Amino acid sequence: MCGIVGYVGPKDCSEVLVDALRKLEYRGYDSAGIAVFEDGKIKVAKEKGRLDDLQAKMNAEGVPAGNAGIGHTRWATHGIPSAVNSHPHKGGEKVTLVHNGIIENYKELKEYLISQGRVFVSETDTEVVAQLLDFNYEGDPIKAIAKTLSQVEGSFALGILFADRVGELFAVRRESPLIVGVSEGESFIASDVPAIIKYTNQYYLLEHDEIAHLDFSGVSFCDLEGNAIVKELKVADWNQEAAEKGGYEHFMLKEIHEQPTAVKTTITPRISDGLPCLEECSITVDSLRDINQIYIVACGTAMHAGMVGKYVIEKMAKVPVIVDIASEFRYRDPLIKEGDLVIIISQSGETADSLAAMRLAKSMGAKTLAIVNAKGSSIAREADMLIYTHAGPEIAVASTKAYMVQIAVMYLLGFKMALSKGQITEDECRRLTGVLASVPVYLEKTIADVDDVCNDIATQLLEAENLLYIGRGLDYALSMEGSLKLKEISYIHSEAYAAGELKHGTISLITDGMPVIAVATQNSLLDKTVSNIKEVKARGAMVIVVCDEEAQIGADVADYIIRVPKIEESLMPMLAAVPLQLLAYYTSYKRGNDVDKPRNLAKSVTVE
Ligand code: G6P
Repeated sequence: MCGIVGYVGPKDCSEVLVDALRKLEYRGYDSAGIAVFEDGKIKVAKEKGRLDDLQAKMNAEGVPAGNAGIGHTRWATHGIPSAVNSHPHKGGEKVTLVHNGIIENYKELKEYLISQGRVFVSETDTEVVAQLLDFNYEGDPIKAIAKTLSQVEGSFALGILFADRVGELFAVRRESPLIVGVSEGESFIASDVPAIIKYTNQYYLLEHDEIAHLDFSGVSFCDLEGNAIVKELKVADWNQEAAEKGGYEHFMLKEIHEQPTAVKTTITPRISDGLPCLEECSITVDSLRDINQIYIVACGTAMHAGMVGKYVIEKMAKVPVIVDIASEFRYRDPLIKEGDLVIIISQSGETADSLAAMRLAKSMGAKTLAIVNAKGSSIAREADMLIYTHAGPEIAVASTKAYMVQIAVMYLLGFKMALSKGQITEDECRRLTGVLASVPVYLEKTIADVDDVCNDIATQLLEAENLLYIGRGLDYALSMEGSLKLKEISYIHSEAYAAGELKHGTISLITDGMPVIAVATQNSLLDKTVSNIKEVKARGAMVIVVCDEEAQIGADVADYIIRVPKIEESLMPMLAAVPLQLLAYYTSYKRGNDVDKPRNLAKSVTVE
């Protein structure tokens, strides 16, 4: 995810900016750039690739020399990674800026600005803000920023230089985070504390629609009307490593909390006119219409995302989907026919079995679609079609936010395919896409609602030796992921079972007090699932039910109930995944395990 930094002070600005950007590398990026006031003029240097590539370019062409400027690491969303698309962007002669977030109405604004004679050089939504601000600027930065903010929609944090305000830096944000750091005679802006912790631990948290002004005399804040704001100075008591965890004790918890942003960043660029838009990934209505058989092939958590995809695509688009574990698929002589679609899901894009499965599918004439988080990875490079998820780097071995964005993409694809196949109307597709677009807000609420209760309930699981997850339909697909999450980091043996299948053998395992986690978010199946819950409860199980806030589940059925907000039934897995992740997290933590690095596991498995 993009990172922003800015500096005003006595030090060599370019050096501070590049150094601060290095501290944001953990967010992931594919290009970088800086803009610095040099001899009264704004000098920009930017390059595709790593910060070392930018440094090499500057060493060859001249490092901007000055004491005030902005810097950026870009994680591409609108437009490929390239020097032209990287930040800072000039909006004309007057404005240069860096941006983190997404401008949702950039297409309309771009058309308007083009009609006003403006010429664009990049494919980014950021250049639209730069051009708009430049267009609106008549000498008063606050007025121009306020006017621009009244026209843009979306989430953003901006660091801005005005060519005629030499040595000054302006910053503003809406939703995307931004802090303003201060120390003796110098000031900073940054997306995150780690960027500046080496220089200062004192900072202000910029709130929505607040403008920060930095110059050599210090820092001031105002609202969009220009009224001064007095803000509380905060002091970070973190070291570098803690700062990278953003104050969370573990990367896993941080990544769970990053899910609303990750989903938003992944789906927003893929929704146009209220409908799923995957044309940038070469997925058109026509290309989907002819597909009659789909295979989804992946490993671990990514395979579980595929399970959700199967239910969604089969139910909505009425296209049969076979989900395969990559290590099985590649050796079981799959009956692939020319024209079948094989979807490979992978966070790292480097998993050996998934890569081999994709190569096999290609060699058999299938079309391959990769859903990958790591940019430029092998699977991303070799697939015929590609949808990048924008979760940012996932550090914890147990996958959380990568899974969440993988299922978000499964929904987009399922809706689009259903529309292409004529299984749903455009209105229905628009309605469903609208619900998906609202998921980030519900995810925020879910995390806030269930965090404490999961922490408490986890205490009941600490001594368990065996545990079952049960569910039906999409809840079964989700149970598989909940079970994997728990076992991989808590080391408690756990299995996921289709609730209706229990009585064919597994129910004999139930003994007094054995925890059974029942996922019951599918209202159309609720009565059936409740019957299965009663069966295990009657045999002594300690039952924890995950359901929506309206589900009728009595205390006689469950020992503990975790309720999440109620949304469209088919999208409930996105919310219900959160308590399953948090239960696993707190159980592992309370058992004293190394949550982020569980024993025997690797984040990226590049061997067979
Ligand atoms: C490893 C990781 C899992 C992951 C799986 C697939 O086992 O520990 O978290 O789900 O690989 O990885 P991929 O990068 O292909 O999604």
